[in-house]
Amino acid sequence: MNKEEFIRENCPDRHGTNCSKWDILPTKYGDPDLISMWVADMDFKAPREVTEALRKKVDFGIYGYSLTPDSYYQSFIQWEKEQHGWEIQRDWIRFAPGVVTGIFWCMHMLTKPGDAAIINMPVYYPFHHAIEDIDRRLIYSELVNTGGIYTIDFEDFEKKVVDNEVKVFILCSPHNPVGRVWTEDELRRLLEICKKHHVTVISDEIHHDLIIGKHPHIPTASIDGGKYSDIIITLTAASKTFNLAGMKNSFVIIPGEDLRNQFDRLAVSLHEDTGNMLGYYAIEAAYTYGREWLDTVISIIRDNYEYALNRIQAELPKAILSPLEGTYLAWLDLSGYLGKAEESGMKDFVQEKARLAVDYGQWFGAGGNGFIRLNLATSPEWVEKAIDGLVKASQS
Ligand SMILES: Cc1ncc(COP(=O)(O)O)c(C=O)c1O
Repeated sequence: MNKEEFIRENCPDRHGTNCSKWDILPTKYGDPDLISMWVADMDFKAPREVTEALRKKVDFGIYGYSLTPDSYYQSFIQWEKEQHGWEIQRDWIRFAPGVVTGIFWCMHMLTKPGDAAIINMPVYYPFHHAIEDIDRRLIYSELVNTGGIYTIDFEDFEKKVVDNEVKVFILCSPHNPVGRVWTEDELRRLLEICKKHHVTVISDEIHHDLIIGKHPHIPTASIDGGKYSDIIITLTAASKTFNLAGMKNSFVIIPGEDLRNQFDRLAVSLHEDTGNMLGYYAIEAAYTYGREWLDTVISIIRDNYEYALNRIQAELPKAILSPLEGTYLAWLDLSGYLGKAEESGMKDFVQEKARLAVDYGQWFGAGGNGFIRLNLATSPEWVEKAIDGLVKASQS
């Protein structure tokens, strides 16, 4: 199937289906008619084999207590090996319903109130909540933005770790919202600092299959043959890769025995160790049959990005679109038009004039003011309308 056919068949109107992406617009943005470019959720139907697997279960019609099929784990292990060269042992894998839930669990497990955890800002805002909402101290090292290209200030990161006796680093790899796929060297330098100062790393790799640029994702725990894996808890899922967030099944991967034992004690105390039964079948089908689907989707995202980039460079010359190495979330600096506008100023430009619902940069913390994040995992038609809106807003 070519891309045009794929989009025609797999990109339905989602209004009125109780999807967060579109149906939350009246309550979240106060306007049902905006173009929804916020939350990281694709407008594409999942691979056909996923729906077929679910249909088989639905046709059987019994949804009782279930065992987790071993083939579910094997499909994930195989996928990680083939796509990322990461050899995961079955015994390392644990369950969390969602990656964010898993981060909260690990924060409870690894820290006590008053302890410090570090993040690289701007970053996916639930990371802030996983620290502040449970009375831990949020320490951040701001990423360095050079003309839209982001890098890590390692000296600042290490100083913050030491000065604040940081216990945990929550890493976003690939990074939402700035679109970086961290290189092996960058990751190694972060891990060296963490190891040296006894910092445990919660590595959120949920976007790891969505590689848009030229260099691959490196699973943090696989670096140097697993040299740092005893300090790392990796969280990932099929939810971003195959648009299955509603299935509520994620993977917690813990190669280190000490951390694994701690997690097992936590799981006992939470009484929460199995996932959604339908999710198991959906996810296994996605990992087993979904590679071609994913190639097509990545190619559409790449086209959408190229289209947006070309038009922004030509028609919004004061805006800067960061390179999209990974994720489907484009990070757009509008400060050339708005300064470092607070959300109210941005809202007038983005919602009233451009008619878009986006994630505002300031939600992501330091370094985010004046930016918006646009979800490009949608049909080219919406991307075209979104850019039309931004261009119009810049001219009014
Ligand atoms: C970096 C990152 N982690 C986690 C999530 C959400 O994961 P879950 O729905 O499994 O909690 C997202 C969703 O946007 C994300 O971007």
